[in-house]
Amino acid sequence: METESLIDKIKALKRQKQVSIFAHYYQPIEIQKLANYIGDSLGLAKIAREQKDSKYIILAGVHFMAETASILNQNKVILSPNFEAGCPLASFIDPKIINEFKMKYPNSPLIVYVNTTAETKANSDVCCTSSNSLKVIENVAKDWKTDTILFGPDKNLANFVRNRTSLNIITVPEKGNCPIHNFLSIKDIEREKKNHPGASILVHPESPLEVQNEADFIGSTSQMLQYTKDNPNPNGFIVGTEIGLIEHLRWKNPEQSYYPLNKYAICKNMKKINLKNLFETLDACGTPSQSKYEIRVSEESANLAIVPLERMLQYS
Ligand code: 13P
Repeated sequence: METESLIDKIKALKRQKQVSIFAHYYQPIEIQKLANYIGDSLGLAKIAREQKDSKYIILAGVHFMAETASILNQNKVILSPNFEAGCPLASFIDPKIINEFKMKYPNSPLIVYVNTTAETKANSDVCCTSSNSLKVIENVAKDWKTDTILFGPDKNLANFVRNRTSLNIITVPEKGNCPIHNFLSIKDIEREKKNHPGASILVHPESPLEVQNEADFIGSTSQMLQYTKDNPNPNGFIVGTEIGLIEHLRWKNPEQSYYPLNKYAICKNMKKINLKNLFETLDACGTPSQSKYEIRVSEESANLAIVPLERMLQYS
């Protein structure tokens, strides 16, 4: 099918079947343009929880985002166009690893990044995202009356919070990382600074500490977007994250210039959602083939995992 006619069909099916499409900023730009809402992990979790109007939600993002939506809104049918869109960071931690650390630190609460499976969340105390990690950690330390916090699985996000608090942060496990952000380097910073003198440098907290240390601003995808609006720079912005955000910025705020810190920062998993599988998911809504796209979290896991997620939303 031609791209244009596929887009028209998606728009028509969306209306006809009362489907909301929620997309992450790392989605291909043509998917973002079809979404009812585009956000960071926290924004997607909140909107999914509050969604009442539409019959179905299609979560255009990686698997943990759809799973989180399903845990937070258990009465809603949440669909994913491609179950193979995983998050490599999520596989750095599991209940077995958690158990090992819990044995060593039995009185310390465990905060896990939302980039984790439902089972990992079900075995944790509180969740956080890149936009609220510091706030969550400080509130947990106060409420649990402790200065030692277990935090996982991203070592770079752990370093980001460690540099901004006096708390003792134990990374669980030691070396978890997002391969897309972890490969950003000082060489990238040096090259792009030379190519774009005077540009502001924005990086995601999943980037290595030495890269964070060179940034003018460190934040989640939507925080970076907000920064470009609040702090316009005629010399532009060097953006250290997945290129989907840069495509979003060029689409929504074309009057400024955006340069990738590394043009190869492309998350293959995020790009596993495309017009074809989005159309197929919409087409299946309300038919027996819907089950092929439906996110199912066991009741037991969902009831346990919702606790740390709700705590995170209270602290945010
Ligand atoms: P944000 O919450 O900043 O959108 O990050 C999501 C993510 O998965 C980064 O790799």
